[in-house]
Amino acid sequence: MTTIVAKHGNFPSNVTANNEWAPLRSVIIGRADNSCFPYEAPHMIEATMPPRFHEAFKPANPFPPEIVRGAEEELGNFALLLQSQGVNVFRPAKVDWLQTGGYTGAMPRDGLLVVGNTIIESCFAWKCRVDEVANSLGNLLSKLGANPSVKVVRAPRPPSPDTLYNGILEDPGSHEWAINNSRPAFDAADFMRFGSTIIGQLSNVTNMKGVEYIQLHVPSGYKIELLDVNDPHAMHIDATLLPLRQGLMVYNPLRVTEESLRRHAAFKDWELVSYPFVKSVQAVEEATGGVPRFMTSAWLVMNVLVLGHDKIVVEEQDHEFVKWLEGRGMEVLKAPFRNVHAIGGSFHCASVDLVRS
Ligand code: ARG
Repeated sequence: MTTIVAKHGNFPSNVTANNEWAPLRSVIIGRADNSCFPYEAPHMIEATMPPRFHEAFKPANPFPPEIVRGAEEELGNFALLLQSQGVNVFRPAKVDWLQTGGYTGAMPRDGLLVVGNTIIESCFAWKCRVDEVANSLGNLLSKLGANPSVKVVRAPRPPSPDTLYNGILEDPGSHEWAINNSRPAFDAADFMRFGSTIIGQLSNVTNMKGVEYIQLHVPSGYKIELLDVNDPHAMHIDATLLPLRQGLMVYNPLRVTEESLRRHAAFKDWELVSYPFVKSVQAVEEATGGVPRFMTSAWLVMNVLVLGHDKIVVEEQDHEFVKWLEGRGMEVLKAPFRNVHAIGGSFHCASVDLVRS
């Protein structure tokens, strides 16, 4: 059997993205090769990861090889699917994460925030992720940044020793997070674009200084607003909000209320729909052949990628959600992704929009 590999995207690529649903023209799709369980301070893992897998988050522990192989195949297939839709696709470099002590190249959404023509590298809280972008996407960022219309903001090195885990500070909402506010920290996936408003959350990897850092670097005219999210395990907002098109968003009813969303002018006149099904992680794992979800909740079902023009990519086993989306006038493209789910995310996590126009 010959394997068809997605061809690398064409340069020069410009960069411009102002929301999560305009037609996708250019994208980065992650790479799973050599992914390892992230090794982190125990309190960081306890704050965010499913308890039944905590002991797997130790140094030099690769994910099971059949899962990594499956995930890489699914990502390659996802890349081809997007190319068949006319999208310019870029892939990260292959990295030996075991040797570098890192986690993965499969979740680029966590490491890059694109706002307008600006790409901002995350100031990762997780120590094992600090070099992730440099190792897997450094070359791509240099090439993209060579285009004078594109602005690339690389993350500063965290101070040594890092002070982020020394004592926990309360945020103004009086919730206690696993990090303090001693230096900027954020994962890009804690933020979503809604035109000139960027909606974000504080979380176990994102602090107030991180929010201020982003505000400083986005092009003028963009404003970050923090959503009131009820999730003590919060890490990434893309299993909480899912905008389908201008004016229509699905939200996770266990984490946000319609009332809290309505406080943001960006959602004035929007139809806000509570996600209609709730399943346990166990039920989801059973439906997808028993592949364990080492790092996420069942809400990963909301972590899908909108291609624009009411087209969306959804996991092939999410039958009831597919039907529901079709009932809302969406055209659904189905793709297998259960192995990518195992290592930390779905279609939204595994991609970075470079151009939506
Ligand atoms: N923490 C979310 C949940 O378990 C999953 C978010 C994954 N997102 C990502 N960008 N890696 O529901």
